[in-house]
Amino acid sequence: MTHPLVVVANRLPVDQTTGPDGSVTWQRSPGGLVTAMEPVMRDADGAWVGWPGSPGDAPEPFDADGMHLVPVALSAADVADFYEGFANDTLWPLSHDVISPPVYHRHWWDAYRRVNRRYAQAAAAEADPGGTVWVHDYQLQLVPSMLRELRSDLRIGYFHHIPFPPLELFAQLPWRRQVVEGLLGADLLGFQRSGDAANFLRVVRRWTDLPVRAGTVTTDTEPERKVRVGSFPISIDSRRFDELARSPWVRARAAEIRADLGSPEVLLLGVDRLDYTKGILHRVKAVGELFAEHRLEVPGAAFVQVASPSRENVEAYQQLREDLELQVGRINGEHGRIGTQPIHYLHHSYPPEEMAALYRAADVMLVTSLRDGMNLVAKEFVAANVDDAGVLVLSEFTGAADELNGALLVNPHDIDGMKAAIERAVTMDQREVRSRMRRLRRRVLTDDVARWSRGFLAALADVERPEVPVPADAPSRRGSHEATA
Ligand code: G6P
Repeated sequence: MTHPLVVVANRLPVDQTTGPDGSVTWQRSPGGLVTAMEPVMRDADGAWVGWPGSPGDAPEPFDADGMHLVPVALSAADVADFYEGFANDTLWPLSHDVISPPVYHRHWWDAYRRVNRRYAQAAAAEADPGGTVWVHDYQLQLVPSMLRELRSDLRIGYFHHIPFPPLELFAQLPWRRQVVEGLLGADLLGFQRSGDAANFLRVVRRWTDLPVRAGTVTTDTEPERKVRVGSFPISIDSRRFDELARSPWVRARAAEIRADLGSPEVLLLGVDRLDYTKGILHRVKAVGELFAEHRLEVPGAAFVQVASPSRENVEAYQQLREDLELQVGRINGEHGRIGTQPIHYLHHSYPPEEMAALYRAADVMLVTSLRDGMNLVAKEFVAANVDDAGVLVLSEFTGAADELNGALLVNPHDIDGMKAAIERAVTMDQREVRSRMRRLRRRVLTDDVARWSRGFLAALADVERPEVPVPADAPSRRGSHEATA
């Protein structure tokens, strides 16, 4: 049976875990995209095409949480060359201001093409005639055009969750033209910020001859198509975080966390994937200097840094972990006392309830990314701040900075500026804290992720499309149902 809406993302919204006895269980992954898509998927009888998260054979398609899940298999070589290689050691650093030098390998590019084709084929087999396919993120930039070759009847949307680099950096990519052409297979291309959409359009002007007018590219195909390009800043399920934060368990846990930390007067918090784009080293340096200069002191102040393990086979991530753990150890060694230390570093990931408790417990949240598509942690902190008592210190290099008027904006490269902002946050009078947080909450609670996905799908439905006959070999809703019945 085929589906009117198919989501294609690198990962499935569930993680596969294999028990000691070899039994396989599936757990819903905590990512924001699942939350965003679940209601629309359920209403639309949608299918989700993605990788189950471990190398090897993929299980048969199955249903979970009201969605039809279609696993795509990645071999160990695909994981190394496509996922860890081209996606996370070429495209990821290239898209984040080359903070870490991107690595260009031709055999990684071959794997990227090969694996993107596999996702496109799986999506082509799942979509209804004339159906809608929504492709997500930088791992799958060739899927729109590969899918269009297979199924020209489909309405194809693509959303880029990370920054789109400036022309001058994107120019480094040996396969820049192919990537642009891959994306232009879509009817609608969504980016986080208007600046990302503008970067993409500059790249289109530079490496294609296609006309670009008012955010729309016209293709030179027969019949010609319009590709709409726009910004659709993503959000979170803010109501859920708000409700979670109000629950008695979270309230009690937040109090317990503060007590366990020795009841500091000021609790600073950082929460990130352990990624070099997040500016964790810059943040720790600033906080360390504040302790060294006695502008913060134990036990009055404590800094909790949650760094969840990420992409641990990629060298740049291993190096970051080494550097961070050395730096945290030094600061704690110098400024700690028996039973108390300035930095509480946790290399773990936690369930949403524990995160909500940490957000509620914190007085100041530090989001100091060097480059970040959006940064949903900033929005989660705001949504969990039900008593309007927290201050958000936010890097101007995040997508969130375009929206979150009420945060204290910082340039994470300016350590003195960041120290001053942290000090200002710590000493801010309660009236200002409350008025800033109220402004932030109004924004985050209104612009939630349901509005985002509805907005994107509505814009996709609006794009003018030429009448295209359904290819004779396209799976038909009834036919394929009978085949599998
Ligand atoms: C970013 C990307 C996502 C990715 C996530 C986690 O948010 O935009 O596409 O899924 O990081 O990274 P991982 O490599 O574990 O999927």
